[in-house]
Amino acid sequence: MKTRSKAKSKEKKKLTESRKLEHIRICLEREIESTISTGFDDITLVHNAVPEINLDDVNVETQFLGHQLKAPLIVTAMTGGHQEALPINKHIAQAVEALGLAMGVGSQRAAVEDASLADSFTVTRENAPKAFLIGNIGAPQLSLGWGVEEIKTAIEMIKADAMAIHFNAAQEAVQPEGEATFAGVLQALKTLTTNVSTPFIAKETGAGLSQSTATILANAGVKALDVAGLGGTSWPAVEVERAKPEDATKATLGRWFTNWGIPTAVATFEVAYSVKKRIPVIASGGIRTGIDIAKAIAIGADFAGVALPVLSPAVLDAKAVQLFLESLIHGLKAAMFLVGASNLKELSQAPLVVTGPTREWLEYRVYEDFIEFKADRRIRK
Ligand SMILES: Cc1cc2nc3c(=O)[nH]c(=O)nc-3n(C[C@H](O)[C@H](O)[C@H](O)COP(=O)(O)O)c2cc1C
Repeated sequence: MKTRSKAKSKEKKKLTESRKLEHIRICLEREIESTISTGFDDITLVHNAVPEINLDDVNVETQFLGHQLKAPLIVTAMTGGHQEALPINKHIAQAVEALGLAMGVGSQRAAVEDASLADSFTVTRENAPKAFLIGNIGAPQLSLGWGVEEIKTAIEMIKADAMAIHFNAAQEAVQPEGEATFAGVLQALKTLTTNVSTPFIAKETGAGLSQSTATILANAGVKALDVAGLGGTSWPAVEVERAKPEDATKATLGRWFTNWGIPTAVATFEVAYSVKKRIPVIASGGIRTGIDIAKAIAIGADFAGVALPVLSPAVLDAKAVQLFLESLIHGLKAAMFLVGASNLKELSQAPLVVTGPTREWLEYRVYEDFIEFKADRRIRK
């Protein structure tokens, strides 16, 4: 009996490892982004022809959970747990170390279960001794019984500065072998935030957090939220690509749910206005340019996160990752210059216009906050 269950758990570990590898390959080779916009197209920062500042003086330094960052930019969770992930994580780690940014690793589940898979995670701390590193585990693991001990193993593995718990319900619902088990997850999260001193970040993975989920997660004791909204990587779309012919139903589900979620701009506004005064907010999901980052901060985020666009450069080398991240930071600074904002606080008060579906979402969902926000912005400059 024991041998059979041992064999079963070995099989499961192998499955997790090969699934992670498939995800990377599909994300590199296929079209897996949602076909619905993040909503940032509906937000326009009002151009200032007389900014009265110098571009060189624009300052984007900030603090994240007590740690100084050179820019409000985080490379969010992607990979680890198989040999192809090792150079990817190494290159991202080297780039964020050089630039003074933060990075998350992908789900550490496989390596917590089998220490022989840890090197593709430990490589991050070896190459980024000072950078802010974020560990990662899926919420379903919490409801399946993972507790303080497993989380501490994951934190220790990379000497994590924070631990992300990812909420990927849309992916689990359509994944052929998905574990759509979220019952009891909040209580398990509360136990962790009470008993582990490392700060926790709750993140979505591309379907977005809402105002009410943000409040619930903040009340469960997390110290930051990553909205990871709709408009970028779509996990249902990734699962369509993974589905085998015998998984036709799941492939159909994946197609139906490719555009499921709350667009990133809407999620950012909702989350920022519900918890911002208490904890920092990361806008992510389809952030692709420095202008997107500027808009995210102008509507309430404190940081922006980016995943998919970092993957191809990370396969190449650290220099390619660094060049891409630098281009995002330069774009952010240029947008700030063009609205006359010399620092992130001024950017957060920049005048802007919200139109189209994003305006409709906001008027419908968070009417009073939105009206107050608009009135505030209208009277500026
Ligand atoms: C290849 C790949 C693997 C990912 N793996 C994880 C993961 O293990 N844990 C997690 O929390 N998010 C994971 N994500 C989600 C990202 O962190 C991010 O929330 C999402 O992709 C939206 O950002 P993007 O549009 O910039 O890719 C992954 C994303 C990609 C592209």
